[in-house]
Amino acid sequence: VRSKVIAIDGPAAAGKSTIAQKVAQMLGYIYIDTGAMYRAVTLKALNEKVDVTDEETIAKMLKNTTIRLTNDKKVFLDEVDVTDAIRQPIVSQNVSAVSAIRFVRDELKNRQIEYAKTDNVVMDGRDIGTNVLPNADYKIFMTASVDVRAKRRYDENLRRSIACDFETLKEEIELRDKLDSTREHSPLTKAEDAIVVDTSDLTIDEAVDAIINIVKKGG
Ligand code: C5P
Repeated sequence: VRSKVIAIDGPAAAGKSTIAQKVAQMLGYIYIDTGAMYRAVTLKALNEKVDVTDEETIAKMLKNTTIRLTNDKKVFLDEVDVTDAIRQPIVSQNVSAVSAIRFVRDELKNRQIEYAKTDNVVMDGRDIGTNVLPNADYKIFMTASVDVRAKRRYDENLRRSIACDFETLKEEIELRDKLDSTREHSPLTKAEDAIVVDTSDLTIDEAVDAIINIVKKGG
């Protein structure tokens, strides 16, 4: 039988990865954070001092890059643990440029499709339901107000001891959404058949329950 796919898309900091990982745990599915893959490519470009708009050099670089995601949310770039490094503000500020590159999208899409071939997956990102796995069994579009999203990211940064300013963070989130939604190749957009889950007034557990209920009802 074909493996099951739950696609969770939505704007930055809507709670996708926290909630998707818990849903995966509860269902015994593999969790794939596709944003982490784009972040890993961006980190490598920054480390190698490659201009993030230099499509040709980044394409070459990506061909010789391994990205490995573990089910406990660790990310390995060429077998080095970059779980924390990919969350740095400098990566967030440059990832939209890298993810707009056609070759990067095609290559990571192929790798994402491979993951979904062998296992049941919960995959989160921006274009999973629209482009990567349009035949997903369940499609969720997860949103929250920009103030709530900025506050959550602010609190998360405090916990990780990353210095930040609330207003700056909010502007960065809005800019990233704008770039991701207006790019030419597979922009962030709600799939027509996706179910909207607004997490503004939901706790993590309530959001997880909302998705589990959608799955139980069979879409
Ligand atoms: O999910 P996260 O915020 O970590 O994603 C980081 C960035 O990766 C997004 O802002 C977007 O530019 C890119 N991305 C994408 N397509 C996906 C997942 C992430 O373009 N499926």
